[in-house]
Amino acid sequence: MNQEQLLRELTEFLRIPSVSTLPAHNQDCRAAAEWVAAELRRLGCREVEFLGSDTHPVVSGKGPDVPGAPTLLIYGHYDVQPPDPLNEWTRPPFEPTVRDGKIYARGSADDKGQVFCLLKAIAASPRPPVNFRFLIEGEEEFGSKVLFDLLKREPQRVRADVALVADMSYVAPGWPAVYTTLRGLCYAEITVRTSKTDLHSGEYGGAAPNAHEELCRLLTRLKGEDGKINIPGFYAPVKRPSKAELAAWKKLPFNEKDFLQKRVQAKALVGLKKYSVLERLWALPTFEIHGILGGFTGEGAKTVIPAEATAKVSMRLVPNQKLAAVERQLAAAVNRLAPKHVTASVRFLHGADPAQIKVDHPAFQLLGQAFKEVTGRATVPARAGGSIPVVPALASGGASVILTGIGLPDDRLHAPNEKLDLKQLWDGIDVFRRFYELLGGAGRM
Ligand code: BES
Ligand code: MN
Ligand code: MN
Repeated sequence: MNQEQLLRELTEFLRIPSVSTLPAHNQDCRAAAEWVAAELRRLGCREVEFLGSDTHPVVSGKGPDVPGAPTLLIYGHYDVQPPDPLNEWTRPPFEPTVRDGKIYARGSADDKGQVFCLLKAIAASPRPPVNFRFLIEGEEEFGSKVLFDLLKREPQRVRADVALVADMSYVAPGWPAVYTTLRGLCYAEITVRTSKTDLHSGEYGGAAPNAHEELCRLLTRLKGEDGKINIPGFYAPVKRPSKAELAAWKKLPFNEKDFLQKRVQAKALVGLKKYSVLERLWALPTFEIHGILGGFTGEGAKTVIPAEATAKVSMRLVPNQKLAAVERQLAAAVNRLAPKHVTASVRFLHGADPAQIKVDHPAFQLLGQAFKEVTGRATVPARAGGSIPVVPALASGGASVILTGIGLPDDRLHAPNEKLDLKQLWDGIDVFRRFYELLGGAGRM
């Protein structure tokens, strides 16, 4: 298929605003699922089904049976993050635009463009001798509940030799990677209530407690200025990477100053100063405040003491931390750190355990070879700061999970003007086409 035709089809997929976290887009999520299902049928799949939900179904399918060949499970997600703030997009997020060899749209890199790449790589090869299985979900950006429930009911859905996940990026331009860990996530709302109702700040100010003030104090107790998270037991299971791994990271094309100036574009980096930036991003847990609700935030001025305030927060977890334990630890810490005169509560929204992956299965070698043939460089092992909740479950049936991707570090995932470089896409299609061939040629593994 020529590039123009491929671009037209990708544009059609990216045009669907499949935002899984906003109920107003339920129909759009369903439409994106239909797009994936139609594509699987075009690839000759049988048993193309929608599973687990009418609005955010897991799209499942099976390629033609090839007896004696390895089974490859392809995982991806067709849902995307909300596109706001809209006024910061140069072109609207769901009107895909090609400029300077890049396609700009929400979902271009995360993850529709990459799902597209894996599927078109199958179409590009003459019947690779591989038993393909597909699980393309629509709730990855919202904690993957539908897929988790499905796999609990039907664990045989992940039975495969290898699972392929392309939902990340190269570590740097020209440097494809496979990832050995993903961070987990614990997403929560912390609410502080100080009085029955809001109060006039003149009549009561000076003597009545203020919910925002109490919440802010609580939050700064949970994480200090030095970046240390003060939740008892939180760091206990965290292990430092081995000397060999830290030494390998030094050889990656990552420069802390460039990271600050070109990617973060802030005045300084923060966090635990005695660890390298890569260690902070990849091997240490975090605590972030995403937003604070409550009180008066409208136009103009209102003199009021808010009675309630809520912070949306999340913690990224690293290998050996457990979501269930961290939930208990956070709830206990909030209880302990909030003063007696406030009512503090924690509500957990979603989460994921961290993932740790051995990259010694022969399929990793084959993927490295495919990248080397197409791009000139084999994959390097790295770690990832982000999360893909379902990865530990994908590994639970014995499949080796390959975490890789065709994005670049500056793709602006979840942010305005998300993009995918088209060269990455065209190379990616060649890489995975070659990988499928090599995998098929290797026979059962
Ligand atoms: N593709 C990302 C995960 C990712 C990003 C891995 C960058 C490695 C590097 C995925 O779509 C994502 O954004 N996941 C969410 C999961 C959450 C909402 C449960 C995340 O990490 O915030
Ligand atoms: Mn993703
Ligand atoms: Mn994402």
